[in-house]
Amino acid sequence: MPSPALAAFIRALPKAELHLHLEGSVTPKLARRLARRRGVVLPGVDLEDEAADLRDAFPFVDFSGFLRLYLAIASCLHEAEDFAEIVEDLGDRLAAQGVGYAEVTFTPALHRHRGLADAPMLEGLAEGRRRVLERHDLLLRWVLDVVRIFPEQAEPTLGFALALQARDPGAVVGLGLGGPEDRPHEVAPLRETFARARAEGLHSLPHAGELDGPVRIWEALRELGAERIGHGVRCLDDPALVEHLVREGIPLEVCPSSNVCLGVVPSLAEHPLPRLLDAGLRVSLGSDDPPLFQTDLQQEYERVADAFGWGPSRLRALAGASIEHAFMPAERARRMQAALAAVPAPPGHEGREAS
Ligand code: ADE
Ligand code: ZN
Repeated sequence: MPSPALAAFIRALPKAELHLHLEGSVTPKLARRLARRRGVVLPGVDLEDEAADLRDAFPFVDFSGFLRLYLAIASCLHEAEDFAEIVEDLGDRLAAQGVGYAEVTFTPALHRHRGLADAPMLEGLAEGRRRVLERHDLLLRWVLDVVRIFPEQAEPTLGFALALQARDPGAVVGLGLGGPEDRPHEVAPLRETFARARAEGLHSLPHAGELDGPVRIWEALRELGAERIGHGVRCLDDPALVEHLVREGIPLEVCPSSNVCLGVVPSLAEHPLPRLLDAGLRVSLGSDDPPLFQTDLQQEYERVADAFGWGPSRLRALAGASIEHAFMPAERARRMQAALAAVPAPPGHEGREAS
């Protein structure tokens, strides 16, 4: 673990969180409370045992096991207030970590699939975002995720994005793409939907190159006009792709603990993050589904500092990159960058900023 002084420095850095799923941010405690409130049975979960981790009931070692847990948590969400509350709870935790801006992924298709109407989701997201901005001056914006295994939900997901944008102007930043990447689901049928989203001023922010290799990243770039890549860590398998990403300045949202938990990399020490940076790629850190991977954004910064021996200047640069790669209002970006530059180096690191 880094020194308390370095941990405090990380907390003080204004940061943007660009890879975080709303449904994957629900803590076990909150999931239990919602399940009790709505009378939802979480199979294998003792709703009264506050100390137990939901992972004990839904152990996972791979993506499909992880998805079962993810869906169980999603099934606790029924009414607008449930959605508002999970947004509010997430906002409290992000603000406590020095996050001033977050692009949060939400997956309407998951909830539609279990028969939920759009109205409670639209109302809950808008209300939760409003509460968070008011309480913390933390700006949340949404990425609406298309799921690879539900291509027929792509158009309704864009419809949801536009409805949310109309209800809460400026709330939606883009269209994402998630779900299992290692099964051969063509993205070509999604091309039209993503093109329409871009024509509506939304950004294209798909996951690619996490569970499968460079071919998925090429496809995201060519078919979906990807402007940032979720994960993308497998790009290193293809030097021509790395060169393309560097030349075009396409950033990667890298989530180290997620990659370890889902078996994308064997350990944090072997994570390719240093090699991605050495290759000249633009990278920001994200926490993906933090309680499910027993992490949060603060810990992601702490863990990479520890694993790679990085000091204040490298950590400050990572926080700066997160602000730069965000699609946030220019005035907020300017304010965050100015505050970032003003954070004093921690004791023992003054004068010469260790890398
Ligand atoms: N949905 C939630 N987390 C995800 C991940 N790590 N990859 C793809 N889809 C996801
Ligand atoms: Zn993700």
